[in-house]
Amino acid sequence: MEYRHFGRTGMRVSVLGLGCGGFGGVGSAPELFGRGEDKQTAFALMNRAWEAGITYFDTADSYGGGVSETIIGAWLKERKVRDQLILSTKVGYALAEGPTDQGLSRRHLIQAIDGSLRRLQTDYIDLYVTMEPDPNTPIGETLQTMNDLMHAGKVRHIGASNVSLPQLRESLAASDRLGVHRYQSVQNGYSLLDRGIEADVFPLAAEERLAVTPFGPTAGGLLTGKYRFGEPPASDSRLGLRPQPYRHLLTERTFRSIDALREAAKERGVALGTLALAWVLSHPAVTAALIGPRRVEHFEPSLAAVAVHLSMVEREAIASRIEAVAA
Ligand SMILES: NC(=O)c1ccc[n+]([C@@H]2O[C@H](COP(=O)([O-])OP(=O)(O)OC[C@H]3O[C@@H](n4cnc5c(N)ncnc54)[C@H](OP(=O)(O)O)[C@@H]3O)[C@@H](O)[C@H]2O)c1
Repeated sequence: MEYRHFGRTGMRVSVLGLGCGGFGGVGSAPELFGRGEDKQTAFALMNRAWEAGITYFDTADSYGGGVSETIIGAWLKERKVRDQLILSTKVGYALAEGPTDQGLSRRHLIQAIDGSLRRLQTDYIDLYVTMEPDPNTPIGETLQTMNDLMHAGKVRHIGASNVSLPQLRESLAASDRLGVHRYQSVQNGYSLLDRGIEADVFPLAAEERLAVTPFGPTAGGLLTGKYRFGEPPASDSRLGLRPQPYRHLLTERTFRSIDALREAAKERGVALGTLALAWVLSHPAVTAALIGPRRVEHFEPSLAAVAVHLSMVEREAIASRIEAVAA
């Protein structure tokens, strides 16, 4: 395993972060609570990750309706490795049905952190991440509250997910203006099929020394080559269960691009999923990529990616095989 500095926090993380979004559900989608990995499978995945040197786990209070955090908490209690783990959880999406049970208001953050700590059976979160900006709460209120949670010892660092460049800029400026802790990381989607953040968020992250921890490195499994154009996805696959985030990619053009990438992977003697992940990890702005294995066998292509280092020229040559697909 390779470890990298996490922005300017002083922490170091494994370049692969274990995405725990599939424990007990498929991410935060309420209609799919109960359709994810059960406790036994999740324990096997965490054990395999730990054995491979993965020391960074990512979850959210809303994943599986709280089940993801609960399972991680049970695993931590059993394995007793809390102090060696960089534990990241997220806040912002609804877990309960009350009118203030979501968003980034002071009221919700103060309530949500205690729920996360209880489910995770820990007294601190290494990285507390806002799921997405909340248009109904001033950014200053969110940052001031996060600062209070840090001073209370409940949170060590904060990060932002699903942020645009202007939102990130505004939040960093607000922290400086208020004299409170800033976001230290960005968690946005990034893959060969979704390069949007390269041109704007990456340069700012580099300038501000923010950690960048992309999710979706295989675009929900599309870049493992498991899907075929025109063939319905298996009902228990990501695309079978939750196609919405990938619908715009399900075109003939995307699948022609995937075929071309499959050739590129073959030329290098690696699996397509390995090449896709290595491509993400090789961008100098990227700190760690969040992977979403559902079975222990899924780790192998991801672990192989850690040893594949691509230069910027090689990355562009690989990306040039893609027909323009992503928005
Ligand atoms: N902040 C956010 O908004 C946000 C959004 C999404 C994800 N995340 C985080 O990022 C993590 C990873 O994201 P992601 O799950 O979208 O990543 P991803 O790598 O794009 O997709 C994971 C899916 O790919 C398939 N897969 C993974 N390894 C495979 C292999 N070796 N062979 C075949 N298929 C394989 C699995 O699909 P099947 O289910 O079909 O087997 C799995 O569900 C999540 O767990 C979560 O922690 C954050």
